[in-house]
Amino acid sequence: MRPSRRVILQGSAGAVAALSLGAFAPAEAAQAVQASSSRRTRLDHDWRFALGHAQDPARDFDFGLDQATYAKAGRKVASAAAAGFDDSGWRSVRLPHDWAIDLPFVANPNPPPVGEDDPKAAHGFKPLGREHPETSVGWYRHTLDLPADLAGKRLSLEFDGAFRDVVVLLNGFIVHEHEGGYSPFRVDITDIAAPGELNVLTVRVDASLGEGWFYEGAGLYRHVWLVATDPVHVPQWGVMVRAEPVGTDARAAVVIDLKNEADPEAVCQVDMRVVDSDGVQVAEDTATTTLAGWNEAQVERTLTWHRVRLWSTGTPHLYRLIAEVRVDGRLVDRYEQPFGVRTAVFDAARGFFLNGQPLKLLGACCHQDHAGVGAAIPDRLQVWRLEQLKAMGCNAYRASHNPPTPELMDACDAMGILVITETRRMASDDAALAELEALVRRDRNRPSVIAWSIGNEEQAIQGTERGARIATTMVRLINQLDPTRPTTAALDQDFGEGVSPAVDILGFNYRTPLMEGYHARVPTQPILGSETGSTVQTRGEYVRDDARHIVPAYDTEHPWWASTAEAWWTLAAERPYIAGGFIWTGFDYRGEPTPFNRWPSVASYFGAMDSCGFPKDNYWYYRAWWRPEPLVHLFPHWNWAGREGEAIPVWVHANVDRVELFLNGRSLGSKDVVANRHLEWSVPYAPGVIEARGFKDGRALAPVRRETAGVASRIALTGDRTRLRADGQDVSMLKVEILDAQGRPVPAAAEPVTFDVSGPARIIGVGNGNPVSHEADRATTRLTFNGLAQAILQTDRTGGSITVTARAPGLRPSTLQLRAA
Ligand code: GAL
Repeated sequence: MRPSRRVILQGSAGAVAALSLGAFAPAEAAQAVQASSSRRTRLDHDWRFALGHAQDPARDFDFGLDQATYAKAGRKVASAAAAGFDDSGWRSVRLPHDWAIDLPFVANPNPPPVGEDDPKAAHGFKPLGREHPETSVGWYRHTLDLPADLAGKRLSLEFDGAFRDVVVLLNGFIVHEHEGGYSPFRVDITDIAAPGELNVLTVRVDASLGEGWFYEGAGLYRHVWLVATDPVHVPQWGVMVRAEPVGTDARAAVVIDLKNEADPEAVCQVDMRVVDSDGVQVAEDTATTTLAGWNEAQVERTLTWHRVRLWSTGTPHLYRLIAEVRVDGRLVDRYEQPFGVRTAVFDAARGFFLNGQPLKLLGACCHQDHAGVGAAIPDRLQVWRLEQLKAMGCNAYRASHNPPTPELMDACDAMGILVITETRRMASDDAALAELEALVRRDRNRPSVIAWSIGNEEQAIQGTERGARIATTMVRLINQLDPTRPTTAALDQDFGEGVSPAVDILGFNYRTPLMEGYHARVPTQPILGSETGSTVQTRGEYVRDDARHIVPAYDTEHPWWASTAEAWWTLAAERPYIAGGFIWTGFDYRGEPTPFNRWPSVASYFGAMDSCGFPKDNYWYYRAWWRPEPLVHLFPHWNWAGREGEAIPVWVHANVDRVELFLNGRSLGSKDVVANRHLEWSVPYAPGVIEARGFKDGRALAPVRRETAGVASRIALTGDRTRLRADGQDVSMLKVEILDAQGRPVPAAAEPVTFDVSGPARIIGVGNGNPVSHEADRATTRLTFNGLAQAILQTDRTGGSITVTARAPGLRPSTLQLRAA
């Protein structure tokens, strides 16, 4: 019998379980997490937040006062951890939460001389760090109402990650400390928790120290889960499935960890079933084992079935392994582990192969922040960002330079996006290895993961013997935990030295022209572009203006170490031994405002899309050459008042055979398209209409026009989805565009747009993609930048109809109706 949706969701261990319901259904993913909470409950709501102080205990809720922190268990650790503490003055927040978003941008009081990079630019000019003790520590409080029937269960909290240096207190007791800002951690609270009572969870987060050279956010920017299990259970990440196709069949080696956290011996029966995405069972087996009290064991089985449905980028089929653990016939645990069946091979001479077919990696490097919300990206926004990358033609994602959220990884599994995931620190100290181990254990069942990256541009070690030793230690650990996937490292120099031979695949950050020589020298090592291209562009701008920190959006400007999109891709596209490349970057991100690297720039210019995900012109270059559909993209806009008669460079990114350009109906000639290259004309400006007509296989495509627009007259408000889940998490990505009276986009419009919301939803952040903007992210008003702005609308936990109106002085407003249920 085919189980109903309800049945499938019950007891599933994670978000991906729900995604296997057939076609990818992002709207249902997060809901499933909450609906599936037999073991796990997500603690997103009802948190209170206040800033503490990194130096002064009196302003840090007495944390560290009188050196009393560890003196007596549960005593005097912090006033904020006490049950009776009055937190009514604290802000009420939802997770994920990034408090850096609410901090102002602050210029360096002692900037370096003009011409030099400002070291404060890298992290995006937020007042975080040891120089800013008053804004670098955050405190969170949450009341855990634990039902009485949890008595006798093992209880734990799972943090998907927090930035950074976390002290977790329950009922006033320190229950855990964790430093790394990107790695998940688990806290056993069984001994301290009081089922049947209100339990006070307090978390101190200290973001004083950075781990990256970019904006990193601050606080509980990922989910926190409460996990309740029987004493006999499958521990976190305790199911490993290594599946492979065998002809048209499938074979899956399954290893299940079991834990007995009680005195009595337990005779366990573990029933395993493999279920396909339609919910049809395709294989089953049973194993038994005896677990002594307070002991661990493993059971292993190999399951096989016929007519395998492979996971691929086009059809990302996911199976689930469902493990049910019984003791004396009583069901004590049910653990679901999604997995896929596919082969992924890097060949030094011929590149990457998925399921035996050559597949160029068309990748993007991405950071984990977005306009409006910083590092606290709602799950649906993770999916939305990946949708934009797929629309551009990407089939691969490099998580630079840290493990991403599990929800992003779930979405890559479900959407068929290949991932190179990366640990934050290239180091072999205990903490770094523990983070690496957590990364591999968490993600080793995922079909999307094709390589583990051990690090990025570690100039002090990448070319040295010491680096080789560190890399070898890291690779050894990875191979123990997951012998099925290769390792890689991203280098910017020292190719062939130090860590190079210690990893399977060598990643070239930029330096695409060096790859040919390397391949000739080391023909046995697969290579890929771990960071490629890196044109700097401001969306919608076409003239460099250093005073205003603007770079043109032609594919022309790049840092000295990098290249244009066209330069790297023409090289990589034609060389099969280059497995592919990951552009730097998919989206603009906060910090690293190259080429200016000084106030007032606060965000990067590297993205093919801006920080809101609005395409820049390079997006269309990649889309033309990375996707099969015929495409003609014409730029710049055609509003150049005051420049009449002056030559304007007009570019076309097109993948058709030929393009003819017209100005006000007059042909300016036609040009043949050369693969992977743009077309360019120089056109004396006259207002009106510039038009590109593409021809493919003798057929004319619909013409593409840019028209001289009049003054701003009205607003067009749209949302990517108008039917939302009323779960307090789901979001609609709202876009505002400024149009003239004839409905033409006004390219330079800078209008202060205000969003009014009625109904059960709220705006959680706004943005406009301008790397120089210092406007507040958490606001309901935003200037449009070159005609566009974005607002992120998040639902409440009650359903109903939602009306959003976008208005600006002197413009006709626009209203959008949505529904949450
Ligand atoms: C690379 C680095 C990236 C980013 C980029 C900016 O060297 O790996 O993280 O900093 O440069 O150009």
